[in-house]
Amino acid sequence: MTVLDRIEELQGEALAAIDQAADTAALEELRVRFLGRKAELPNLLRGVAELPPQERGAVGKAANVARKTVEERLQAATERLAQAELDARLAADRVDVTLPGRPVEPTGTLHLLTAVRREIEDVFLGLGFTVMEGPEVDTVHYNFDALNHDPAHPARARTDTFYVRDDVVLRTHTSPMQVRAMEAQPPPIAIIVPGRVYRRDSDATHTPQFHQVEGLWVDEGITLADLKGVLLAFCRAIFGTEREVRLRGHFFPFTEPSVEVDVSCFNCARDGSPCRVCKGTGWLEILGAGMVDPNVLAGVPGGAYDPEQVQGFAFGMGIERIAMLKHGIPDLRLYYDNDLRFLRQFG
Ligand code: DAH
Repeated sequence: MTVLDRIEELQGEALAAIDQAADTAALEELRVRFLGRKAELPNLLRGVAELPPQERGAVGKAANVARKTVEERLQAATERLAQAELDARLAADRVDVTLPGRPVEPTGTLHLLTAVRREIEDVFLGLGFTVMEGPEVDTVHYNFDALNHDPAHPARARTDTFYVRDDVVLRTHTSPMQVRAMEAQPPPIAIIVPGRVYRRDSDATHTPQFHQVEGLWVDEGITLADLKGVLLAFCRAIFGTEREVRLRGHFFPFTEPSVEVDVSCFNCARDGSPCRVCKGTGWLEILGAGMVDPNVLAGVPGGAYDPEQVQGFAFGMGIERIAMLKHGIPDLRLYYDNDLRFLRQFG
């Protein structure tokens, strides 16, 4: 076989192998095999100088052409297979952005007390009241004095109330915001004040911290009938459209007259059996209320709330109690135990 034939044979072998290579790794091997330092074709080229002079030109040219041909075929095949390999990898690793991500953590529910507070707020917002909040640490002045508490009122005792200092307490009710709100704006005023309150009490029906919603409406010519109408609307919104309310005389330092307010039992009528909820009385006590005592109005600095000019009513309810009645919660402590089996039933 002549050298030229051998060159042609090597070229044919190399091109065929390149065309059949399955991947870029196989092409690398072929590059070494046909064009590497120990490969036959480059060695032929290097050996041209030793050939008889009349053969050198033809052999050198043929070997060069063969090497370039193989190189170009290798280059083209490498580009083609590299692209195919990239496509395959992209297809395999593809992220489908339309798939949902990691399964969503189950969302929590509103705590029952939060849900009921919001429900109460919604009712009063609908009746034209504004929602305000006040400090949980307040002065004896706002918590007791400005609300017309007698200096000897038992609620002032350190056995009943948490004192931070002699003149500062954890508020025992949300009523102090009555006075703070009236100081901040002239009449008419219609607000509710939800919030935490604190008392030194702890048993099955009392927790040292609980929640109230205070209400205050002061304007010219407000009467007890307005109080009753607002509370009737409230009770019907919360406990059902069939409800009635009744007022019973009571005493609070900051209202005169003062009343306790009952809502007609929503459990009795259901099956006619003796009712456990209202203990057969037909009425459930839900809150304290009354007409704002003139002393409280007159005590607002600046005289903006002259009791000869304006009148108003106030009320205060416990959110725990409203939620208990509405949902038949048997034990106050369930609110605070954080047992998910209880909490998940609401909200
Ligand atoms: N502050 C009273 C309490 O904590 C509740 C209350 C009663 C608030 C009558 C009022 C009211 O505004 O008029 O027991």
